[in-house]
Amino acid sequence: MPNITIAIDGFSSCGKSTLAKEIAEKLQYSYVDSGAMYRAVTLYLLNKGILKDGSFIKSQVLDALPNINISFEINPDKKRSETHLNGNNVEKEIRKLHVAQHVSAVSAIPEVRTKLVAMQQNFGQNGAVVMDGRDIGTVVFPRAEVKLFMTASKDIRAQRRYDELLAKGDKVNLDEIRQNLVKRDYIDMNRDVSPLKKAEDAIEIDNSELTREEQLDLALNIIQKAIDKSTIEA
Ligand code: DC
Repeated sequence: MPNITIAIDGFSSCGKSTLAKEIAEKLQYSYVDSGAMYRAVTLYLLNKGILKDGSFIKSQVLDALPNINISFEINPDKKRSETHLNGNNVEKEIRKLHVAQHVSAVSAIPEVRTKLVAMQQNFGQNGAVVMDGRDIGTVVFPRAEVKLFMTASKDIRAQRRYDELLAKGDKVNLDEIRQNLVKRDYIDMNRDVSPLKKAEDAIEIDNSELTREEQLDLALNIIQKAIDKSTIEA
């Protein structure tokens, strides 16, 4: 079976990572959460006080970049890949609202994107990878065999994120989460570098009314066709 590349892009809290993980498990591919990498850089800058009250001095960010090392390690208990920042497990912390509130500003910095895109291309250089994010099908892997673009209504996305954070024991407010989603979508779509947009050859999946199983079936059907095509062309 050929090892293809699967790029999943879309808005915040559309269930991209849930779908990506399920596909990776089914195909025995590796999964890379590119959003976690932008979140890890944001956490680093917050912890170092370089990012404070929503603003930063760009030269300090550029000086800090070479000191930021991000990796994904399998947690043997949970049997899932978790994000590590300079050797420390930050999987839980990067999901918190204070990181979400600053991550769009950090991911709009061109030098941050250059560093992380190079790392992402490196992670996926041998194929057999599912990567989710905002620019995977347009910038990171423009030649990916499968490109999916996920959408869902704003209310449904806010409710899903709310339920997720609540289940983790976080104190959250639905309205605050909704506002954060709307703001992040706006910044992600309107930044100068690699804005969130659907690649011309991406297939759009609106999962507002789909169950997880229906969504997975739909995606696996699309992927199977791409695998068949790659097999014929090989
Ligand atoms: O997928 P996520 O919500 O964890 O992503 C966090 C932020 O990172 C998101 O607001 C936009 C940014 N991001 C990006 O700019 N490019 C990517 N490939 C992935 C995420």
